[in-house]
Amino acid sequence: MNGGENTRSPTPNHTIRPERRGPAGGHDRIEGVNARTSQLSDIAAAAGTPCYVYDAGAIRAAYATLDAAFGGYPHAIHYALKANSTLSVVRLLHGLGSHADANSLGEVDVALRCGFGPDQVVFTGVGKSAAEIDRAVSLGLLAINVESPGELDRIDQRAIAQGVRARVALRVNPDIDAKSHPHISTGLKSNKFGVPIDEAPALFREMSSRRGLHPVGAHVHIGSQITTLDPLSKAAAAVVALARDLRGEGVELQHLDMGGGLGISYDGSPVVDPAEYVRALVAATRGSGLKVAIEPGRVLVGPAGVLLSTVVDVKQFPGAKRFIVLDAGMTELMRPALYNAYHRIEPLIRRRGDDVPVDIVGPICESTDAFARDRNFPPVEVGDVIVVRDVGAYGAVMGHTYLRRPLPPEVLIDGDNWRIIRRRQTLDELLALETE
Ligand code: LLP
Repeated sequence: MNGGENTRSPTPNHTIRPERRGPAGGHDRIEGVNARTSQLSDIAAAAGTPCYVYDAGAIRAAYATLDAAFGGYPHAIHYALKANSTLSVVRLLHGLGSHADANSLGEVDVALRCGFGPDQVVFTGVGKSAAEIDRAVSLGLLAINVESPGELDRIDQRAIAQGVRARVALRVNPDIDAKSHPHISTGLKSNKFGVPIDEAPALFREMSSRRGLHPVGAHVHIGSQITTLDPLSKAAAAVVALARDLRGEGVELQHLDMGGGLGISYDGSPVVDPAEYVRALVAATRGSGLKVAIEPGRVLVGPAGVLLSTVVDVKQFPGAKRFIVLDAGMTELMRPALYNAYHRIEPLIRRRGDDVPVDIVGPICESTDAFARDRNFPPVEVGDVIVVRDVGAYGAVMGHTYLRRPLPPEVLIDGDNWRIIRRRQTLDELLALETE
């Protein structure tokens, strides 16, 4: 069930038909996407599967919740493009008043292309190349988040060579355990990120003395998919204390960048309420009077996206496992293979019958290519459409073309309409960089 969209005009606007229930009854709503079964059925038929589908309304609502929770306190929400940098999604966030957090020159350029001014972009990255530093300095970004004393030197030199002062923030490593998956924790001193917070005062003094640098902020990001408030509050308190000490020494910052990291509930278990998180940051910072910046990615776009896939095989090993084989796998969603991450999965239209334990696997020739193991799942047949939830963040962006699998399309639902915001890659496009 591939393809389909390439025969249509590049960005058609489809009107979603009024709701109808599937033949076997069942689900009429996909939580987090506000899309109904018939909408997703239409999209799967027109765009083909695998296919990512995002709901603009869910992104708007998530942004509004964070923004409102600041309650007028000076702040900037820098959407972390790494979560999903598809142009239409980034443009949507720009239109909501978001600022941007970029982690590569590619992301900086995507942000600029989507309408962000350089003074709305912060640039983080543990290993910025000379070309990246040069361009970040020449663009005059809001802040380059500095990751090491060596990088401080390199930015200073490039700024002097260009005859400018680069706005920089120091990324501190507070040695706080985010209590998330070890692969996405960044705030311990065993992690490669930032500079130990004890070294920060001396480095700020150093930055203040450099001709090419203008220290404007402190930055902290201790990890991703954090599901308790405590580590986030502790990290915020640590940078607020740092800013207070610096003020005592005459180094006056403009903003405190608390990073991203707020988790979402992939499995229905409780997570931190986003408004409560923002209120905790404001409470920690209020005394300083400094502007708060945050860099949320997952919480803004994660629950707004699903991956549509089609069952290509169902197989039962006698007396042993039952496998549901999908046309999507680790090429479209790396998270289960990479972090053993849990994603809710359900058939778009539920058939009658009892749930049985199954492995839901992809078509890739790797044993790690499984979305779920021993998951209770209703009966399915070849051709049924399956919905994998919460893939709006770190889904498409981490997709790849292993086995020469072209990148799938992405669709944005907005109100009653939907449109393809990235069409399916063709094999010719995939091969276009190569010579024979
Ligand atoms: N700021 C910085 C400096 C970051 O490194 C990240 C994420 C964010 C902000 C956004 O974090 P968020 O709000 O989305 O948690 N691929 C992994 C997640 C890696 C996150 C990397 N940095 C996953 O699929 O879970």
